[in-house]
Amino acid sequence: MVRISGTQKKLGVALSLLVGFFAIGGVLWVFPTASNQGYAPEQPIPFSHKLHAGDNKIQCLYCHSNADKSRHATIPSLNVCLNCHTVVKTDSPYIQQIQKAFAEGKPIEWIRVHELPDHAYFTHKRHVAAGVSCEVCHGEVAKMERVEQKAPLTMGWCMECHRGQTTPPEVLAKYHPNMKNPKGPVAPVNCNTCHN
Ligand code: HEC
Ligand code: HEC
Ligand code: HEC
Ligand code: HEC
Ligand code: HEC
Repeated sequence: MVRISGTQKKLGVALSLLVGFFAIGGVLWVFPTASNQGYAPEQPIPFSHKLHAGDNKIQCLYCHSNADKSRHATIPSLNVCLNCHTVVKTDSPYIQQIQKAFAEGKPIEWIRVHELPDHAYFTHKRHVAAGVSCEVCHGEVAKMERVEQKAPLTMGWCMECHRGQTTPPEVLAKYHPNMKNPKGPVAPVNCNTCHN
């Protein structure tokens, strides 16, 4: 009988995991991927975009101030909330919760709604610069009491816009200014654009 050493066993396990990973990857790529579309988790504080961005018309970039500058739009830190909530609605238990967390130097643990797998690369800056509005990818956030993932965020969804099929007219006009039926992509479609 052939004895299998511990290292060989570990190597075997690592190899089969690797093969399994690619096999699953392949299957998932052929069949449509499970999408988190419709995901709308309850947040630790019921923060309402309808109230802030809708009724009170606070600009998206006032709070998500990195969306036009970097990869991530980022969730505002509590000092941004306190620009108003040192005086606004201070009798609310939620606002008191925010003030207490800030005083203790603790963040509010917001639940992430939109999240791509690690192997996919996305950046806000380029899309905002290209004139793609937040609503195209996130839906009418200013009408939402609770944020919901509206778009599928699948590779096919990204590709359809990059290829020019679902690109909003105002974005299309920028990349194919003289064509009624534009040919060719408006954004890169080679694999390493989004995978590296
Ligand atoms: C007053 C500050 C504020 C304003 C204004 C604001 N947001 Fe937010 N946004 C937040 C906070 C806080 C969260 C995290 C809690 C939540 O998900 O509701 C958040 C979460 C989000 C998320 C979900 C992030 C995730 O986890 O995937 C999106 C998308 C978003 N905002 C888009 C927008 C858009 C679009 C606008 C403008 C129409 C906007 N926000 C205006 C504070 C703000
Ligand atoms: C082209 C599509 C697209 C546009 C346009 C877009 N987003 Fe996003 N957004 C995404 C995707 C995809 C994710 C998930 C990114 C990830 O997991 O790396 C995301 C995540 C977020 C998040 C949570 C994670 C983070 O990056 O901080 C916030 C907040 C957010 N978007 C706000 C905005 C706001 C505000 C705008 C407009 C100024 C905007 N987004 C425009 C696609 C878009
Ligand atoms: C530019 C001003 C402004 C900023 C910044 C702001 N808010 Fe508000 N917020 C308001 C106003 C105005 C109301 C409505 C007050 C009312 O109902 O009288 C409100 C109401 C709320 C309420 C509802 C309180 C209740 O019990 O009815 C919560 C919760 C809240 N804000 C959380 C936040 C959080 C979290 C942030 C930071 C991410 C934030 N706000 C940033 C202006 C602001
Ligand atoms: C509604 C249209 C639209 C959607 C949806 C969209 N994109 Fe884009 N994307 C663009 C445009 C337009 C550009 C800008 C091209 C430029 O700057 O020349 C761009 C640029 C990019 C770039 C930068 C390319 C470079 O040259 O470095 C990356 C990365 C990218 N997108 C990834 C994604 C991913 C990942 C998704 C899906 C989660 C996605 N995009 C969804 C329209 C879109
Ligand atoms: C515009 C951005 C973009 C481009 C270009 C792109 N991908 Fe993707 N890809 C994604 C995103 C986002 C995901 C994650 C969401 C999903 O799984 O649909 C993904 C997922 C995948 C997966 C994981 C399987 C799965 O469905 O979970 C594989 C494999 C893959 N891509 C291969 C490729 C190959 C090969 C190319 C070149 C022909 C390519 N991708 C080009 C954005 C892109």
